[in-house]
Amino acid sequence: MNRQTLITLKIFTWIACLAPFTMLVYQAVTNTLGPDPTSEIALTTGYNALLMLILSLAVTPVRLLSPRLGWLIKFRRLLGLFAFFYATIHLATYVALYANFNLSVFETDITKRRFIIAGFIAYALLVPLAATSTTWAISRLGGKGWNRLHKLVYFAAIAGIIHYWWQVKPGVLTPMNLTITLFALLLARPVMVLLQKRRARRSLAVSHLARSAE
Ligand code: HEM
Repeated sequence: MNRQTLITLKIFTWIACLAPFTMLVYQAVTNTLGPDPTSEIALTTGYNALLMLILSLAVTPVRLLSPRLGWLIKFRRLLGLFAFFYATIHLATYVALYANFNLSVFETDITKRRFIIAGFIAYALLVPLAATSTTWAISRLGGKGWNRLHKLVYFAAIAGIIHYWWQVKPGVLTPMNLTITLFALLLARPVMVLLQKRRARRSLAVSHLARSAE
């Protein structure tokens, strides 16, 4: 992919990722957030945090489908950082508008409401990932260490999905689409490893055959 196309795609990704935030700001300014503005902000930011996290997880399996999709890797960090951006606004909404900066509300919630506990676990797992997303951090941790740490993203997404299910009313199935997508991505990992091993074994056998034929 040439540089110009990549820049255009990056601009589109920025616009798409910022669209929900821009919409929230517009609705807040025009007073059109609906009957429960706090809930509207929390639901929009929570949903987009999880959506962008899952999209960032989809990058690796999708790009392995074809060598021509290798450029997708350039979008993984951007999506992950936008997920963190929305999760941080989501948390700030909870602290400021639900808990009113009241430490006792926070203490009760973190010990008694299981969906809040799951949300905090998801956020706590995202913090080290966002903090080590710079090129400097990657070189400090080394490729292997960085990759090992960034496996946490799967646990963050699982905690986010659990938080989502525990938050909706019984019988409501809105978290299903993201759950199925995450499940498919988790399943894709071992399948990818297996296929890569098989491909490596086959090319080794081919090179052995070629050598013995000489
Ligand atoms: C930092 C700790 C967190 C707290 C205190 C928290 C709190 C909340 C609250 C209070 C709601 C319900 C809003 C309402 O019904 O009015 C909610 C919904 C939600 N949160 Fe969180 N959350 C946290 C972290 C996260 C994280 C890290 C994610 C994503 C990775 C996330 C994803 C969601 C989703 C998907 C919803 C439901 C959105 C919908 O129904 O459309 N939350 N959260």
